[in-house]
Amino acid sequence: MPSMTGFVDFNPEQDIPRLDGKVIFVTGGTAGLGKASIQALVKRGASHVYFTGRNAEAGNTLINEMKKTHPSVGLTFLEMDFLSLASVKKGCDSFVHDRLDLLMCNAGIMFKPPALSQDGYEATFATNHLAHALIIKKLLPTLLKTAETPNSDVRLISLTSEGWAGHPKEGVNFSTLQTTQNALFGKLTRYGQSKLANIVYTAEVARRHPQIMCASVHPGVVKTDLVNNLSLSEKALVYGANWLMGVTLMEEDQGCLSQLWVAAGARRDQLVNGAYYRPVGVQSNSGLDKIATSQEFATKLWTWTDDALAKAL
Ligand SMILES: NC(=O)c1ccc[n+]([C@@H]2O[C@H](COP(=O)([O-])OP(=O)(O)OC[C@H]3O[C@@H](n4cnc5c(N)ncnc54)[C@H](OP(=O)(O)O)[C@@H]3O)[C@@H](O)[C@H]2O)c1
Repeated sequence: MPSMTGFVDFNPEQDIPRLDGKVIFVTGGTAGLGKASIQALVKRGASHVYFTGRNAEAGNTLINEMKKTHPSVGLTFLEMDFLSLASVKKGCDSFVHDRLDLLMCNAGIMFKPPALSQDGYEATFATNHLAHALIIKKLLPTLLKTAETPNSDVRLISLTSEGWAGHPKEGVNFSTLQTTQNALFGKLTRYGQSKLANIVYTAEVARRHPQIMCASVHPGVVKTDLVNNLSLSEKALVYGANWLMGVTLMEEDQGCLSQLWVAAGARRDQLVNGAYYRPVGVQSNSGLDKIATSQEFATKLWTWTDDALAKAL
């Protein structure tokens, strides 16, 4: 079974305890790791799963597939475009349960061409960080209320990436976040700063609300659309870097193990609140740099995010 720091031998079908009665919210559930996670969580008896995406057809297909094998599960697809905070807010307003046991902030984009969100922010940061910050803000009261109920085990998981290390030296380039940040190596730094923000913001939620077990998770390198749709040179970069690190490319059912272990497989007392995990179950805070562990930077990110959300809504 899992150790605190070692590689975990984890089989979701055996090792995730029954999830009967649990309400779960997964962002980016229409494809890739989010979809694979939903399939695994439903198999373990989750009572109701909300999931987000833009692709309504893929959302409905997943619901129909899951309903065939698990007719009693509740599944709600919330159509949201993370490039619009108004769209994210509208989707969150359709969350109607009075409990939420697990929020998995999974949706993400990588190496997209320079662009702005509808609210005028750099698109990768807007999608990977800002939209999730709004979802966390909207669902936090329900998470906190659930944490007060007897025997609860409320968790918040954010998908990050080893690519966090590509952040600019100041962590996030706040002064140009309302531009496309179309600089040399811009795609690396845009993705890097967004994935750094996922780690730092999640750790800050843990500090502010320790009753919620929070963690950020790197899944490994997985053959999802995120990777499959890269250009040849981008694939060479990703595969090359991972080959050098001795990392193998995974299928989706293996790639979702890291997030599933932290979200539901690990006992609460096996986790470190606010920590960063590599696959599978390897607590890796010692691999973070000064910025990723700086309280000053975390406070700056939190304040900037609050201001941006207040301005947009
Ligand atoms: N795959 C890897 O090797 C890898 C490695 C490190 C980290 N990660 C992280 O793992 C997470 C999941 O990635 P994945 O590989 O599963 O990616 P994926 O297969 O491309 O799926 C991405 C999900 O995000 C949603 N999404 C993307 N843009 C959106 C937008 N503007 N509005 C709403 N939803 C949006 C997509 O839904 P719609 O298309 O329906 O909008 C989809 O469900 C990401 O955070 C990624 O950074 C992945």
